[in-house]
Amino acid sequence: MAGSIPLGVAPPSSPGSGRGRRACVAARPADVYATRALPGAAFARLGERVALRVWPGPGPPPAETLREATRQADGLLCLLTDRINAELLTACPRLRVISSCSVGLDHVDLVAATQRGIAVGHTPGVLTETTADLAFALLLAAARRIPEAERFLRAGSWTPERAWEPDLLLGRDLHGATLGVIGLGAIGQAVVRRALGFGMPVLGWSRTRREIAGVAWRELPALLAESDFVTLHVALTPETRGLLGAAQLAAMKPGAILVNSARGGLVDEDALADALRTGHLAGAALDVFATEPLPRASPLLDCDNAVLVPHIGSASVATRTKMADLCVENLLAGLEGRPLPHCANPEAVA
Ligand code: NAP
Ligand code: GLV
Repeated sequence: MAGSIPLGVAPPSSPGSGRGRRACVAARPADVYATRALPGAAFARLGERVALRVWPGPGPPPAETLREATRQADGLLCLLTDRINAELLTACPRLRVISSCSVGLDHVDLVAATQRGIAVGHTPGVLTETTADLAFALLLAAARRIPEAERFLRAGSWTPERAWEPDLLLGRDLHGATLGVIGLGAIGQAVVRRALGFGMPVLGWSRTRREIAGVAWRELPALLAESDFVTLHVALTPETRGLLGAAQLAAMKPGAILVNSARGGLVDEDALADALRTGHLAGAALDVFATEPLPRASPLLDCDNAVLVPHIGSASVATRTKMADLCVENLLAGLEGRPLPHCANPEAVA
């Protein structure tokens, strides 16, 4: 954790700088660029330990600004909206650690970072239950058409003639309906626990087969064909991009509901919008999109049966603070040459 002793970095050796000469040169404070100020006490104290520069926002720094600002940095603290690609890493020869305030790392070129010996930290665990809560909130919102019902009321459509209509805004029951969980990692398993509490039979598929109490294993095609609700919890990688394309969506049970709180790139959004328009799927609830923020031209915005929220999976006060603290811990560990509490590429510094 951040204390009060500044973190020094010995100057790099240069031709003619012998041992005696280097011993006379004071260590400079570690240089850190943060692409956003984070909540919590650890970030507030970070400036006491390192020479900290913070992008003021709003929004992420443009790619060119990020590259120039990180060129001389020893550490980079970033968000999932920053593209940390090989070109950027090549321009930043001093970089020893990248600490992302996210569990997902699809915005970081991990292979390039590992090749350059740069440790990459992330924030698994602390956001698991909060993100699973959001996935379940989306499931309920889509099943019981809650945003649609709220729009109806606010629009003044709840008139005396429609006071309690027997067929007004009918939705789906969760209890007794089958939930298919794609990706049985930490968040997928946390969603399973919630579903079992709601009396839902649960089917599961993951890259790595796991025996989990209450989950009946299915291969992906069978899971899609048998589930009334499908929820996505796999990381976005080259292997999982487009995991649910037009063919997989067509193979889902007619009238099923899809929830995605993992990454937008897992789903073909145009095909999803078609399935929602034709009624093949009764609904979808999405926290994540292939392009974020969701472009105004997205066909999903025309689908009344889609619940759309702006990537708020981990957005609780307590969890965002824990993520920020862990993000700072990862950064300081990397700068001090200690193992990161959560490192995605330990082989980079092995
Ligand atoms: P996790 O415990 O590491 O689980 C990751 C899952 O992705 C595992 O099921 C894993 O498969 C699977 N996976 C990874 N690489 C794969 C590949 N190449 N092919 C197939 N499956 C692969 O992570 P988590 O904490 O549950 O988080 C899961 C994802 O949720 C994150 O990566 C992130 O994108 C997303 N997320 C979103 C929010 C939000 O705000 N909406 C918040 C947190 C996380 P195995 O079965 O082999 O382990
Ligand atoms: C959020 O999407 C995360 O990956 O932490």
